[in-house]
Amino acid sequence: MDTDTTEAGGAHTDQTSFGPVGVIGAGAMGAGIAHVAATAGHAVTLVDAVPGAAAGAVERIGAVFSRLVDKGRMPAGDASAALARVTSGESLDDLPNCGLVIEAVPEDLDLKRRIFADLADRQPSTTVLATNTSSIDIDDIAADVADPERVLGLHFFNPPPVMTLVEVVQGKRTAPAYVEHATALMTAWGKTPVRCSSTPGFIVNRVARPFYGEAQRIVESGIADAATVDWILRERGGFPMGPLELTDFIGQDVNLAVGTSVWEQTGRDERYAPTAFQRGLVEAGRLGRKSGQGVYTYAADGSVDGVEPDVELAERLVGGPIATDPLARTLAMLVNEAVDLVARGEASADDVDTAMRLGTRYPKGPIEWGREIGFDVVARQVAELDEAYPGGRYRPSPALTDGSIR
Ligand SMILES: NC(=O)c1ccc[n+]([C@@H]2O[C@H](COP(=O)([O-])OP(=O)(O)OC[C@H]3O[C@@H](n4cnc5c(N)ncnc54)[C@H](O)[C@@H]3O)[C@@H](O)[C@H]2O)c1
Repeated sequence: MDTDTTEAGGAHTDQTSFGPVGVIGAGAMGAGIAHVAATAGHAVTLVDAVPGAAAGAVERIGAVFSRLVDKGRMPAGDASAALARVTSGESLDDLPNCGLVIEAVPEDLDLKRRIFADLADRQPSTTVLATNTSSIDIDDIAADVADPERVLGLHFFNPPPVMTLVEVVQGKRTAPAYVEHATALMTAWGKTPVRCSSTPGFIVNRVARPFYGEAQRIVESGIADAATVDWILRERGGFPMGPLELTDFIGQDVNLAVGTSVWEQTGRDERYAPTAFQRGLVEAGRLGRKSGQGVYTYAADGSVDGVEPDVELAERLVGGPIATDPLARTLAMLVNEAVDLVARGEASADDVDTAMRLGTRYPKGPIEWGREIGFDVVARQVAELDEAYPGGRYRPSPALTDGSIR
C-alpha cells in the first residue's frame, strides 16, 4: 500500500481532515464511540439495525453532553456543535462516504464478517474499517473483504468517553500504514492508543487472565476464603479491587466468556482453563452483583452481607511459600503472561504496561513489576508453582531468563 497518509481515507493526525466517521451498532459501545468522535470534531453517522435505536442513542448522547455542560465540563457551544454533528440511520446505506467506520455490533463472528463484507462494498476503497471486537480475530472478521489491509481493531473500553485506553489491533493482513494512521487518530481524539497483534484477548484481556484465575484456584483449593484473598490483593497489592469482587462486578458469566474465548483460541492452553469454581457460580445463576449473588451475597443496597477477611491468615500467607501466597503467586503469573506476550512480539513492553494501568487500573504495569521483583526471581517462582501444581498451567516464559526482556 502507498504510505501517503491521504491514501487511508485522508487519515491525517488532524482529525477533522479525516472526514466523516461511521459507527455501526448504537449500543453501549457504539453510542460512546460516536460521542468521542463527535467531540473530536467529526461528522458522525450512527446506525443500528433496530428501528429507532440509533436515534434514541443520539438523544442519549445529547443528554450526556447536557450533563457535562451543567457540570461545567463542556462549553454549551461545543456541546450543541458536537451534537449537531451526529446523525442517525438504520442501515449501512445511510452512511456517507467515511474516512473511518467503526463496527460495534454484538460479539458474533458471522454477523461481523457479513457487515465488513457489506461495508467494503459500500465504502470507498480508502475507508479504514475498524471493529471494536473484544475477542474475535481481526483476520476472521476481514475474511470476506477483498482488501483486508484496511481492516483493523480499535478496541475501546467501557465507557468510551471516560476510558482513555484504545487497543489498536493489527491483523496478519492489516497494512502497517493503516495502523499508524489509526494510532495517530486515536491520539488526536485524546485517547491513549497501544498497539498489539490480533492475539487472543489482545493485551488487557490476555494479561489479566491470571488475576482472576489464581484467586479462584486459591479459594477453590481452600488456601484462603474470597474475602481474605481480595483483602490481600487490595491492601498488600494496591489493586483497586480484589479479583473475586471484581468478577462479581463484571459479571461471572461475562468474565467466564472472555476467559473461555482466550482458552479456546489458544488451543485450550491449560494456562487459561476456566475454573470449576467459576463455572459452578455461573451454572448456579450466581452471576455477581447483577443477580444479587456471586462470590459474595449482596444486600438490596449493594452492600456485601457478613464477610470479613481473616487478616491474621492473610499476614501469614503473604511472604510465605509461593504456592500459598495469593499476592506473589498472582504477580508472578501476571509478569509471566506479560513477558510472554512481549517475547512473542505481540506488543511492546511499554504498551503492555500502559494497557494494564489504564485498562484495568493496576497500580503498576506487569513488566515494571517484573523489573522490581526480578525476572529471574519470577522464573523461579513460576517453576516452583509448576512443581506444586503440575499440569502445564505454570510454565515459566523462556524470556524471563534469556535476557530478552529487561
Ligand atoms: N460492553 C463492553 O464493555 C465492551 C467493551 C469493549 C468492547 N466491546 C465490544 O463492542 C461490541 C458491542 O458491544 P456492546 O456492549 O455495545 O453491545 P450492545 O448489545 O450494547 O450493542 C450492540 C448494538 O448493535 C446493534 N446491532 C445488532 N445487529 C446489528 C446490525 N446488523 N447492524 C447494525 N446494528 C446492529 C444492536 O441493536 C445493539 O444496539 C462487541 O463486539 C463487544 O464485544 C464491548
